[in-house]
Amino acid sequence: MMEEKIKVIATPLLDWYRTEKRILPWREEVSPYRTWVSEIMLQQTRVAAALPYFERFMAALPDVQALAAVDDETLMKLWQGLGYYSRARNLKRAAQVITEQYSGVFPSDEQALRALPGIGDYTAGAIASIAFAERVPAVDGNVLRIMARLNCFYDNILADSTKKQVTAALKAAMPPEAGEFNQALMDLGAMICLPKNPACERCPIREHCEAYKSKKAEELPVREKNKTRKVEKKTVFILLKEGKAALCKRRESGLLAGLWEFPNRDGFMDEQAAAAYLASLGFTVREWKRKLTARHLFTHIEWQMQGYAVEVQGTNEDIGFYDEKQFHARAIPGAFRKFVAATEEYIKE
Ligand code: ADE
Repeated sequence: MMEEKIKVIATPLLDWYRTEKRILPWREEVSPYRTWVSEIMLQQTRVAAALPYFERFMAALPDVQALAAVDDETLMKLWQGLGYYSRARNLKRAAQVITEQYSGVFPSDEQALRALPGIGDYTAGAIASIAFAERVPAVDGNVLRIMARLNCFYDNILADSTKKQVTAALKAAMPPEAGEFNQALMDLGAMICLPKNPACERCPIREHCEAYKSKKAEELPVREKNKTRKVEKKTVFILLKEGKAALCKRRESGLLAGLWEFPNRDGFMDEQAAAAYLASLGFTVREWKRKLTARHLFTHIEWQMQGYAVEVQGTNEDIGFYDEKQFHARAIPGAFRKFVAATEEYIKE
């Protein structure tokens, strides 16, 4: 039974964790605020990529009060490059709830945490166990993979029912050191029980692992997706004028809300159509410089983009032109990375 397995691995896993754990800034100094911010960053970002962002974020916004009061532009700049920007907006919203409704004191139990913007089951469990020693699990893809192998089960780990079963078993068998146990599973998933080529020979719990014993670790877990992304085609304009490049601000709601972007339009356009569209905005083309293509995957949407770098004349009140410094002071989402790189060539001082 899954519960029994979890009880058996607790001691060897905790022993291993105490000697082999990764040294991470949110582990060296633990507070609810640090645990929370780190968990939000790590929701969709790898540890190595999150590290410099975490340190910078803590330096700029050292506590809940600072986060609640930060202006959106600064917040987006701190988050630029991490992607999934709604995470940052939810952080600020939650900080405002904590300052206004909880007198600035972090709510400590899993239920109250889950009610905050941006905090789901996994993150609530992680914060409650790591920062408040509550005996609850934190189940993410790593934990599901470990459990599938440990128990050699072939249930689809992307199904809610599987996650429910695993969560219930972990909850029932959770050792008192819940924060350490959950983080031990995270580290085991990141360093040993890898999705591909797991390092079973170094695994502290391999003698308990049913998949290892039957040489099935490589073929588990089962992940059956039923995901298709909606494809959106876009034409992106890198408008250049007097050593400056054009940006405009996205709407305050929806995908990538409030960030800066290059002027763009749904659908692909040839140069003739593009020139006509630019004319409708008030621009005339002086020189076509480059044509670029790029693709970006969001969770449910795929953008296919064609870009034109063009020297123009004219103005439009919704479109500003910025020099290199002003350009880099604005938070531009990763979806436009390739166009940002191309723009740099033209506006470098
Ligand atoms: N991934 C998600 N949360 C983590 C944590 N607290 N430590 C290491 N990796 C993580």
